[in-house]
Amino acid sequence: MLRKLVVGNWKMNGSLAQLAELSAIVEAARGRADVDVAVCPPATLIAHAAAQAGGLAIGAQDVHCNPHGAHTGCVSAAMLKEVGASLVIVGHSERRQDQRERDEEIRAKAEAALAAGLQTIVCVGESDPDRQAGRAVEVVTNQLLGSLPDSWSVGELVLAYEPIWAIGTGKVATPADVAEMHAAIRRNLAQRFGERGASIRILYGGSVKADNAAELFAVPDVDGALVGGASLSAAQFVPIIQAAG
Ligand code: 13P
Repeated sequence: MLRKLVVGNWKMNGSLAQLAELSAIVEAARGRADVDVAVCPPATLIAHAAAQAGGLAIGAQDVHCNPHGAHTGCVSAAMLKEVGASLVIVGHSERRQDQRERDEEIRAKAEAALAAGLQTIVCVGESDPDRQAGRAVEVVTNQLLGSLPDSWSVGELVLAYEPIWAIGTGKVATPADVAEMHAAIRRNLAQRFGERGASIRILYGGSVKADNAAELFAVPDVDGALVGGASLSAAQFVPIIQAAG
């Protein structure tokens, strides 16, 4: 079994005042030597969060694929590292939708992040119409093929399966659906990367809460969670960390 990783994605939420929640999360994470915990606040808070994170990993929610240059509004992997980020999320479905990010671009971002030494979480997940049409595994398999880099070091590449219809909706995938998809992803990783594929942690994301976390963590090949709304408050996030142990 791989060591579980619980990541909070604050999305476009949080201010300096919100960092009080981070302090409580840091305390809880310190008490759990058996679980890896990270928080990805908005870019404006990364430096502040890293300064008070203790052993907690702080990450970014996106990165540009180039190291520098004329890309207004973007930040590079080296810039994120410099202010204390140790990981980054790429290819979140909200970016695939809002910014029309495609698999090739996500792969380039992942390559740049890994090259800079950032642990990289690549997100995949199907829409509700895809699932209704019985195409969920096919869609996710194609995303894996297009967005995963070929070259990575053990521990540095992480996957997050986030069905779009479960994000922020309170609708959680059933343990059976999660088991089916995570097994399909694991098979796909084994085909592509051989034995090393077994070292990639596969997180589940989509309405993970204190009351469903334990059930999700018990599913085979669920190696942690990517948590949105419930990561904004320590009261909701800490029980999820505890359920992972
Ligand atoms: P929620 O936990 O709010 O459903 O968000 C999941 C997510 O998108 C995390 O990246």
